[in-house]
Amino acid sequence: MTRLIIDTDPGIDDAMALFAALASPELDVVGLTTVFGNVTVETATRNALTLLDVAGRADIPVAPGAAAPVAMDYRGAIPQIHGEDGLGDGGELVAPSRAALDITAAEFLCREAPGATLLAIGPLTNLALALRLRPDLDTLVEQVVVMGGNALGPGNATPAAEANMWNDPEAADVVFGARWPVTMVGLDVTHEVVLPGAGIDELTRRDTATARMLAQAVPLYRDFLAEVNGLDGIYLHDPSAVAYLLDPGLFRTERWPVRVETQGISRGKTWPSLGNTDDAAPAAWQGRPPVNVCVGVDAPAVLDLLRARLS
Ligand code: BDR
Ligand code: CA
Repeated sequence: MTRLIIDTDPGIDDAMALFAALASPELDVVGLTTVFGNVTVETATRNALTLLDVAGRADIPVAPGAAAPVAMDYRGAIPQIHGEDGLGDGGELVAPSRAALDITAAEFLCREAPGATLLAIGPLTNLALALRLRPDLDTLVEQVVVMGGNALGPGNATPAAEANMWNDPEAADVVFGARWPVTMVGLDVTHEVVLPGAGIDELTRRDTATARMLAQAVPLYRDFLAEVNGLDGIYLHDPSAVAYLLDPGLFRTERWPVRVETQGISRGKTWPSLGNTDDAAPAAWQGRPPVNVCVGVDAPAVLDLLRARLS
């Protein structure tokens, strides 16, 4: 069983990822760490606690993380996508049954991440801060699976950048350059994994606590994507990273060193050094470990897998 820590900014697709992970016997979720992103870190922490209550897993600790990126101010929440409450504004959220830990996410990671897998589905700030606190942590973690970035296609937060990278490019560049094995589950694949409207209806009409939570959360995200992207369905960004953990064979990957742009109009863009050997790569990519970059996906199989776990 994989010992798993989820670093998250819930977030509607984060909630789906969390429920899918908790429903997977292959994964032993031993803690959640929270980060600013879709919402403030205070809201992210409240939501993490509430979602664990909804899933009947109030035994899993939550460590509150960074309120802002390592090198700039927080850009602010995105209520038009995730709601003022971060979970779709579809009804009153029950107050959490307990408090978060009184250590930071970075401290929790330093203590608990050795031997564990990290699933990072928000900005990568907590991971970068943990490396500052414990510089050998990248030699102790089993693997890091990141939802974020766009290797070969456009961004979603800007024409260049994906949202989690855009929210903390400096931290992301540190995480992709560290010694732990990193897999990037970015827009190159998550834009293929669309749960269609009929699939949403099927998932959310069930009479379970998690289904009722999703029935409350998903409509806002669905309406946003219908209006802005003309989509009948929702992108399963964060849940796709859970699917990678459950069955990496459903993804096609390439091993490329990745830099994250920190300057100008492309700030937050993930740039792989395509196919270059280390000494042939441009200097900025030299000495960087290869990242396992997802470039293809069996989307119907991923949807089947996630539908099964969320049912
Ligand atoms: C990512 O950005 C966030 O808004 C989502 O929760 C996901 O982690 C997609 O770009
Ligand atoms: Ca997220």
